[in-house]
Amino acid sequence: MSKEIILTGIKPTGTPHLGNLVGAIMPVINMANDASAGQSFVFIADLHSLNAISDRAAIARHTREIAAIFLSLGLNTERTVFFRQSDVPEVSELTVLLMNVTPKGMMNRAHAYKASVDKNVASGTDADAGINMGLYTYPVLMAADILLYGSDLVPVGADQKQHVEFARDIAGYFNNVYGPILKLPQPFIRAETGIVPGLDGRKMSKSYGNQIPIFDDSAELKKKVMRIITDSKLPEEPKDPDESTIFQLYQHFATRADIADLRKKFESGGMGYGDAKKTLFTAIDAYLSAPRKKYNELMATPEKTDAILAAGATRARAVAVPMLARVKSAMLG
Ligand code: ADP
Ligand code: TRP
Repeated sequence: MSKEIILTGIKPTGTPHLGNLVGAIMPVINMANDASAGQSFVFIADLHSLNAISDRAAIARHTREIAAIFLSLGLNTERTVFFRQSDVPEVSELTVLLMNVTPKGMMNRAHAYKASVDKNVASGTDADAGINMGLYTYPVLMAADILLYGSDLVPVGADQKQHVEFARDIAGYFNNVYGPILKLPQPFIRAETGIVPGLDGRKMSKSYGNQIPIFDDSAELKKKVMRIITDSKLPEEPKDPDESTIFQLYQHFATRADIADLRKKFESGGMGYGDAKKTLFTAIDAYLSAPRKKYNELMATPEKTDAILAAGATRARAVAVPMLARVKSAMLG
């Protein structure tokens, strides 16, 4: 890989679960830690959470949790600039400046805004009911995040692709008027890791309430795993592993050999769901036990986490301040 600048953000809107771990957190850590890649920036997008959450204690808690999760799972903060979005005030100033090269019609087309409007229309309320300007202008703040650090590649889930394309368009509009100052970023859609199912077999998601938080303690984790919904097949009956939530989850946490072994046990019959759940619990617990210990230590000493984020913000500002100065002087002299 060439030395491209990689940047991504994570919104602190909830306690991350195993779906987030497999689908987003581990891929980001692996990409950021890749020694052959260029400089990486990973930040917690607390300003972006404000359009949906007004409880500052909840935002602070989720910010610490996410920071501790990344640190305990091995994000290398010497390589990666790891910080909290709101600690870099330049991003807010750049947002105000970029507003002026951002067409309003582009915001009207944003998926997240359109989804909220569609929901309102379907329920017969005013199209813009409950929609604040934070949600409406979300893509401009995100463009500022991306453009402030001269990002080349922005790893995101498929749902965020449009936002990165908007950032690229906004940079293009800016450069057309003011000269070639902003780098045009590209989305990097994370490889499909497969959907992690939740306790009820649907996609694991906060919105379904079927999630397993990453760092539940062992006893709680076991309780949740034992609650996974299964059909009523008897232990001796053969079972289709590809239809089983237990097996689907197991695939993300066990070795290849152990996965093949459990598949065989499902297919040949003789293993009950109770035993399969115990096998699954043991695998997840083993995968998470060392990072969990680290996570608990970090959560018990928040000043350590805060200091790491503060050091990250200092490094981020070393890039952000001169970039903002260039943009501002191009626009205002
Ligand atoms: P939730 O559905 O719980 O609100 P988010 O939408 O905040 O989760 O998820 C953030 C990212 O985590 C997604 O872009 C996706 O990459 C990943 N992710 C979330 N849930 C899952 C899942 N069940 N399986 C795989 N990846 C997931
Ligand atoms: N909007 C992203 C999400 O909901 C989070 C985010 C904010 C982000 N700023 C970013 C992602 C900049 C990549 C780059 O997941």
